[in-house]
Amino acid sequence: MGSVTRKPLIAGNWKMNLDHLQAVAFVQKLHWTLKDAGHEHDTVEVAVFPPFTDIRTVQTLIDADKIPFALGGQDLSTKDSGAYTGEISGAFLKKLDAGYVIIGHSERREYHHESDADVAAKVQAALRHDLVPVICVGETLEQREESGPTAVSVEQLKVALEGVPADADVVVAYEPVWAIGTGQVASPEQAQEVCSALRAVVAASLGDEAAARTRILYGGSVKSGNIASFMREPDVDGALVGGASLIAEEFAAIVRYQKHVGV
Ligand code: 13P
Repeated sequence: MGSVTRKPLIAGNWKMNLDHLQAVAFVQKLHWTLKDAGHEHDTVEVAVFPPFTDIRTVQTLIDADKIPFALGGQDLSTKDSGAYTGEISGAFLKKLDAGYVIIGHSERREYHHESDADVAAKVQAALRHDLVPVICVGETLEQREESGPTAVSVEQLKVALEGVPADADVVVAYEPVWAIGTGQVASPEQAQEVCSALRAVVAASLGDEAAARTRILYGGSVKSGNIASFMREPDVDGALVGGASLIAEEFAAIVRYQKHVGV
């Protein structure tokens, strides 16, 4: 399960930031910053996860200007259509060329009381619509102190992968809750320890082949100054970036982590 060819993925979770007009300016700026720097998109994949109300606009821009960014939603409904006020179907995301959808972010688990079972149902909904679920797991500080660094994430991922076929394309994001938006970043060794345990869960649930090709991201206070140290770890295949994904130059520098000294 060592280093196979997993294309690194740098994903920007905008959360509830940037309206659709700001999104246009931001995506253009990010595109030109990367282009000017000579970024080769076949080396590192870039994905943006705007708010729902921006997605149509961002899709149009990406399409018109041939911008090689993947697009994703920040959540989706467990249902496909019907009387579910306020919900967004995976079918709608797919229609807008979204390739990915974030599922089970800790902010949704905390503020919207999403359970592991809800997360599992959303993973199934994503797969029904041919979207790659970015399954987020991670422990709070209290949970880490109580049950160690890996137990919570391992259990969350086990449930999320129940019923997922072995050939399904999924992405896993390890985001320790205590490192999100706090500036208190996990160490590369801490990230590696959990990401490696998560790869073992993928192996047990979906098989060795799936474990070898599934990308596992780290998220939590990722910046241009620390990304390279995470990417050196064998089981970290990219990053899910919050705050730093809203600043074009900073996010571009994260995408271009291979250019940083020592990598
Ligand atoms: P920050 O990068 O702002 O810590 O957020 C991480 C995150 O939650 C990405 O989904």
